[in-house]
Amino acid sequence: MEKEKVLVTSALPYANGPIHLGHLSGAYLPADIYVRYKRLKGDDIIYVCGSDEHGVPITITADKEKVSPKVIIDRYHEMNKKAFEMFGMDFDIYSRTSLPLHHETAQTFFKSFYDQGILKEKKTLQFYDEKAKMFLPDRYVEGTCPRCGYEEARSDECENCSAHYEPTELINPKSKITGETPVLKETSHWFFPLGNYQQWLENYIEEMDKKYGWKDNVLQQCRSWFKDGLKDRAVTRDLDWGVKVPLPDSEGKVLYVWFEAVLGYISATKELGLQRNNPDLWKDYWQNPGTKYIAFIGKDNIVFHAIMFPAMLKAWNDGNDDKYIYPQNVPANEFLNFEGKKFSKSRGWGIDVIEFLNLFPADPLRYTLAANLPENKDTDFYWKEFQARNNNELADILGNFVNRTFTFAHKHFNGEVPPKGKLEEIDIQMLKANEEYPVKISALLEKFKIKDAVLEMMNLARAANKYFNDTEPWKTVKSDKERCGTTINISLQTVYTLAEMFSPVIPFTAEKMFKMLNTEKRGWFDAGKENLPPGHKLNKAEILFVKIEDKTIEEQIAKLPQSEETEEKKKEISYEQFSEIDLRVAKIISAERIPKAEKLLKLQVDLGYEKRQIIAGVAKFYSPEDLINKRVIVVANLKPAKLFGLKSEGMLLASENNDGKLKIVEIDNSVEIGAKVK
Ligand code: MF3
Ligand code: ZN
Repeated sequence: MEKEKVLVTSALPYANGPIHLGHLSGAYLPADIYVRYKRLKGDDIIYVCGSDEHGVPITITADKEKVSPKVIIDRYHEMNKKAFEMFGMDFDIYSRTSLPLHHETAQTFFKSFYDQGILKEKKTLQFYDEKAKMFLPDRYVEGTCPRCGYEEARSDECENCSAHYEPTELINPKSKITGETPVLKETSHWFFPLGNYQQWLENYIEEMDKKYGWKDNVLQQCRSWFKDGLKDRAVTRDLDWGVKVPLPDSEGKVLYVWFEAVLGYISATKELGLQRNNPDLWKDYWQNPGTKYIAFIGKDNIVFHAIMFPAMLKAWNDGNDDKYIYPQNVPANEFLNFEGKKFSKSRGWGIDVIEFLNLFPADPLRYTLAANLPENKDTDFYWKEFQARNNNELADILGNFVNRTFTFAHKHFNGEVPPKGKLEEIDIQMLKANEEYPVKISALLEKFKIKDAVLEMMNLARAANKYFNDTEPWKTVKSDKERCGTTINISLQTVYTLAEMFSPVIPFTAEKMFKMLNTEKRGWFDAGKENLPPGHKLNKAEILFVKIEDKTIEEQIAKLPQSEETEEKKKEISYEQFSEIDLRVAKIISAERIPKAEKLLKLQVDLGYEKRQIIAGVAKFYSPEDLINKRVIVVANLKPAKLFGLKSEGMLLASENNDGKLKIVEIDNSVEIGAKVK
């Protein structure tokens, strides 16, 4: 089999909080399984990751705690590094973007684009805090939403009603830093003309998909970006935390965090080379056309890895003699939820990795997550499922088979591999399965069908248990010792195959199995051979999996906040206050999209006594045709507002379902238009 040269990266997590199980399922565990498998296969592979240490959220955390951003990134860099170690991540390096080496790398890219004349300078109006003497990022400005009156709305969008507006429309803006009213001040920024690369990107993605099969979720997102048309993207910010813009007169400006973070993969590889006394190592991967580059990420990172990053590499390649390779695949996962809801640090919903691994070993967690990866749709972590996977699969199937086999070998064959006698059909079938499974599992892993691969691994353990049952060594040990020896020999060979097949998923347990077998890994495609010669001495058996008691799991479930506590409650109001809201039944008579406002629809509604125009943030969930003639409930006395320059007189009632989709509240035709809702 031909050896491949492979470069694997996982999204660099923000050093702004502890990673949780959702992160592991999205971008880390799948990559780790893939990498470990590739290493066993003998491919030349490096796996690069590290902390993403810039961006506004880090400065917000630092301000809140009244410490410098450095304190925050040091804390979470160390914490996440440790969490990954405990989880068994097989990174070649876990670097960080605060290193000077990274700053230089990112600046070199920016400089090259600047020198090639690719970047466009544009002036924009931005909130400026005169007391703090700084431009305020969107999240540093708060005010009243021009649409719904929510008082903690952000400068460009409202998280209460999801309206988008111009910062100039925000009512009563306040700086979150000083509480002062900020002024709008002109500032200039550098923009990367992503649109110029659209045609190239479309061809690139199509070609990669044709050759290597990209995932549908990734293709769909890219196509929808292409459909809307790629636009100029600001690559600088007014902020003092980050990679400085390497141009004269750019005091107080840094590179936009996403622009430099993706380049962190390259800097981290450079650092790896320095550690290994091979400063050119990075070129051997990043600038070697023979390298296959795979970028593992979660779905919220697709545009940056499948569109922005390749465009940046292309822009570099257009103007420089040294040429980078492009991602060959970007196998993005959907999200993992926790017991039916999104992970939320602030609501205490979910569990951090270190917390988890202080309670349970890593392998049962790795296996549970791997068996349930959100490859095509969001999935959930449930404590009960974790218990069941550990007890009924790892312990009762895999653990039990290994344990039975070792007990027999020690008790009846002196702790040695017994010789085989004459083979029967059932033996031949088991040996054949050992040869076939590695091939089958390899094909799945190569296609990033990791969940299916894990299922097949357990299927081999199932087949092994069945073989043991059907050959009945507890009977043959008395009636035909040679026959019994054959069963135990083949079972031990199967333990070997299982150890190797499972080792990417449960590496700690696989190590124990190899130790028990008193041997080492041979490599993926040798795993199914008969690796243990007759007479080979075995070590003592160890316990592979400990069953988890109901009580233990119930304790964990009891720790979760009760559902009401996780909901934000509002303060009580009187009936009078409620009755001030004029809720009415209305019929939607027309609906149309608004150019450039992806989230909004322009509706005309009939209230019986008059007709109104309402701008509603439902375009992502309803197409205009869906809405015509629906009877809905409208807040009829809401103060009119302007959105995208359009008047909006009222608001529809809607709610969110479990998938985060907005559902408009409807009422049937028996209720007349204009009727009051009380
Ligand atoms: N820090 C980002 C996140 O957690 C991911 C950055 S990936 C990178 O969503 F490639 F840009 F570094
Ligand atoms: Zn609002």
